[in-house]
Amino acid sequence: MNKFSRTVNRPAARRSVDEITGSRRLRRTRKSDWSRRLVRENHLRVDDLIWPVFLMEGENCQEPIDAMPGVMRLSVDQAVRQAERAARLGIPAIATFPNIASSMRDETGSHSLDPDNLINRASRAIKEAVPEIGIITDVALDPFTVHGHDGILRDGEIVNDETVMQIAAAAVRQAEAGSDIIAPSDMMDGRIGAIRDALDQSGFHDVAIMSYATKFASAFYGPYREAIGTGDRLKGDKKTYYIDPANADEALREAEQDILEGADMLMVKPGLPYLDIVHRIRDTYALPTFAYQVSGEYAMIKAADANGWIDGEKAMIESLLAFKRAGCDGILTYFALEMAELL
Ligand code: PBG
Repeated sequence: MNKFSRTVNRPAARRSVDEITGSRRLRRTRKSDWSRRLVRENHLRVDDLIWPVFLMEGENCQEPIDAMPGVMRLSVDQAVRQAERAARLGIPAIATFPNIASSMRDETGSHSLDPDNLINRASRAIKEAVPEIGIITDVALDPFTVHGHDGILRDGEIVNDETVMQIAAAAVRQAEAGSDIIAPSDMMDGRIGAIRDALDQSGFHDVAIMSYATKFASAFYGPYREAIGTGDRLKGDKKTYYIDPANADEALREAEQDILEGADMLMVKPGLPYLDIVHRIRDTYALPTFAYQVSGEYAMIKAADANGWIDGEKAMIESLLAFKRAGCDGILTYFALEMAELL
């Protein structure tokens, strides 16, 4: 007999619910739609959405990605088209990710430094055609390396400082091409400061840095790796540079370090499994804080919806609202267009 069983087993409650709650009824405000709307604490707006877009070579090309139903790789001309559409819907910014031709990938990701690589060509074209939308570009090396790691691989090790020098130089090329926000997702130490210095020395004082400050070594990136063609190449894992999913205090130290080095905005990635991190970072630093609802999160909702197991649209809205509730200023999400259309 545990200490609760006496309560549980007792006969009909002697006290009325009013006696128990003191006439406090939390259901009162939930009774109708107008009332629920009146007391709603968080709202999704189109302004909260950042749309990640996958790029490919070619012209007039759209290629579906198996693990991400509804998401396409786009050639630059098509990406411009879609950027126009996103801007018309009021989406503030897009984030581009390239699927680089195999022949351009090498051990050190040297093609990341080419002013005319796929990312930079796309930025130029989008900036010219749709100047009103913000362009966010990643400087991690994974789309450019034969091994799919975010940095330079030497003797089985991802070497930190050499990688940082290269991504800082790549960031300047991206700024020259029209990128408004450099978003390094590689998790090398010292990259934010090095990118800031490199941008400033080249006169790009106004180009901002959104740090993937807390990026976890996650299983939820699978579909993305298919999308940019690194899935089959990646040898080993990224545990020596991404954060252990078990750690939260360490994530705060990462965020603090990036702020000290000059990050303008912070990002938490993946999203839903890490809302505690979003909440703590937003509360602690009060810097614009974003979350990336990553490919695996998108794929789970789409797959369950396709099987008729959940209502995909409702799950999409609920998941995006959860980011707002946790304190996000915005969300990178593959649902951005779909959500913006609903709004
Ligand atoms: C790597 C990078 C990743 C994502 C974007 N850039 C993770 C990875 O492949 O390790 C994931 C995005 C997603 O899953 O949607 N620099």
